[in-house]
Amino acid sequence: MVEAVEDMKGVILAGGSGTRLKPLTTVTSKQLLPVYDHPMIYYPLMTLIGAGIRDILVITAPEHADDYYAYLGNGKDFGVRFSYAIQKKPAGLSQALGMAKRFVGKDSVTMILGDNIFGGSVAPWIRTFNGGAMIFVKKVRDPGRFGVVELGQSGSVRSIEEKPKHPKSHFAQTGLYVYDNSVFSRIATLKPSARGELEITDLNNLYLVDGALRGVILQGEWIDAGTFDALLKANQLIARQRKKFPTRR
Ligand code: G1P
Repeated sequence: MVEAVEDMKGVILAGGSGTRLKPLTTVTSKQLLPVYDHPMIYYPLMTLIGAGIRDILVITAPEHADDYYAYLGNGKDFGVRFSYAIQKKPAGLSQALGMAKRFVGKDSVTMILGDNIFGGSVAPWIRTFNGGAMIFVKKVRDPGRFGVVELGQSGSVRSIEEKPKHPKSHFAQTGLYVYDNSVFSRIATLKPSARGELEITDLNNLYLVDGALRGVILQGEWIDAGTFDALLKANQLIARQRKKFPTRR
């Protein structure tokens, strides 16, 4: 197991109602659906654990909290510690992260969405994080489904827009975010968006205006497994990787 990274906590978000995957999500949570040979959440968890993060807060919706505990437990089986929090209503990614304030304490925090599957390693970026905020972007064909990122020179970010009608680039903001401890005072200043949520893009824009946001272009594959087609692709990606690296979980 990779050496633990100091001063970095992890948050994995497995809330939401998985509307786009109904009826698969009628009786279970999206992030527990099978992706090849593990429940979906296993893969983003491995992204955190593979970076050396050992203290992880799992945020779930109230109706599925027991199922997550049954699968993940206290973390012993994964060689880490899991804590749990419940997001009563889907009130936005930034609202969920705000719930982690006490858990994170004085540390930095990496948040990953429980339906985001990363094919390559992001560990070096997380392990060498040194303040501000870091987002990971990937070129996609359909950027309007995501937060759209316009990059400047050498990792700077010029703009991020949440699901714009007229995307300014093909770079999607993926569901992996690294923040320094100022994130909690920044979240406290956010106002709900038109859809009534505290948006992750608004939070990232607070770092952007301070010149403290860095964008990393991902080389490996990335899938947000929130639609039927993306879920199928995620299964195929993991199956392919298993055949290529049979001993790697
Ligand atoms: C969220 C973010 C979006 C990001 C996406 C990545 O959208 O708001 O900026 O591109 O995750 O998966 P959601 O999928 O929750 O609608």
